[in-house]
Amino acid sequence: MCTKKKVFFSLIVLFVFVMIKTSTAAKLSPVEELGKKLFFDTNLSTPAGQSCAACHAPEVGWTGPLSAVVVYEGAMKGRFGNRKPPASGYAGGSPLLHQDESGDFVGGMFWDGRATGETLKDPLAEQAGGPFLNPLEQNNADKKAMVLKVKNSDYAALLEQVWKTKKEEWEKDADRIYEHISRSIRPRGRGRRRTTGRAGSRGWRRRRASCPVLPWASARPRSKSRSGLRIRQ
Ligand code: HEC
Repeated sequence: MCTKKKVFFSLIVLFVFVMIKTSTAAKLSPVEELGKKLFFDTNLSTPAGQSCAACHAPEVGWTGPLSAVVVYEGAMKGRFGNRKPPASGYAGGSPLLHQDESGDFVGGMFWDGRATGETLKDPLAEQAGGPFLNPLEQNNADKKAMVLKVKNSDYAALLEQVWKTKKEEWEKDADRIYEHISRSIRPRGRGRRRTTGRAGSRGWRRRRASCPVLPWASARPRSKSRSGLRIRQ
């Protein structure tokens, strides 16, 4: 092959490779798709109208989008949280709350780590179940009320498929389905990381700067977006 042909051929190979990479990177798995639907569903509050994204907005790096506001109003008018919502995008690698080799407390969720992750063995999945029922946030009455809302949503079939359950059984098994909901917001699998022990905390510190954790958000900069975050469809 002459040099021109070789260069042309290499460019084609490179182009095909980049196309394949981009299309596989942009594809969400079913559980990731489900987590994304739950995160952005404004119907999952009482009264309806507030999703997780109201306080953790993608365009500002998954924190609160209102620059002039310190505390955020929940779905119920006049009820405010205690502080500005921290970014939720990088939270998933956080290990269970524990003391590391130097005696520092590491892990959990919130500034004080009080969502320790002990119950579900995963701090983010555990935390993700909180806001739906918090009277200062999405204010749903109980797990059953939440499960009913998801049952009536247009992605109920996706939850059935992902967690291999039948809609008809959801109400009498609301606790389990609610756990599925929490775990879907923080899907395991691709982003699975060790979340306990020394390796967990060392790894987390290393990864925190680079690892996108909500799987539909990528930290790769993109000039058009204000926050530099790319939102995957
Ligand atoms: C009304 C506003 C509001 C809504 C709605 C809301 N959050 Fe939050 N979120 C907050 C606030 C405020 C905090 C910090 C609480 C604290 O530190 O005491 C927080 C903290 C978090 C954290 C901990 C981050 C860290 O670095 O420790 C995660 C994760 C999180 N929220 C995820 C979610 C998810 C998932 C939803 C939807 C199910 C949601 N939030 C809905 C206001 C909100």
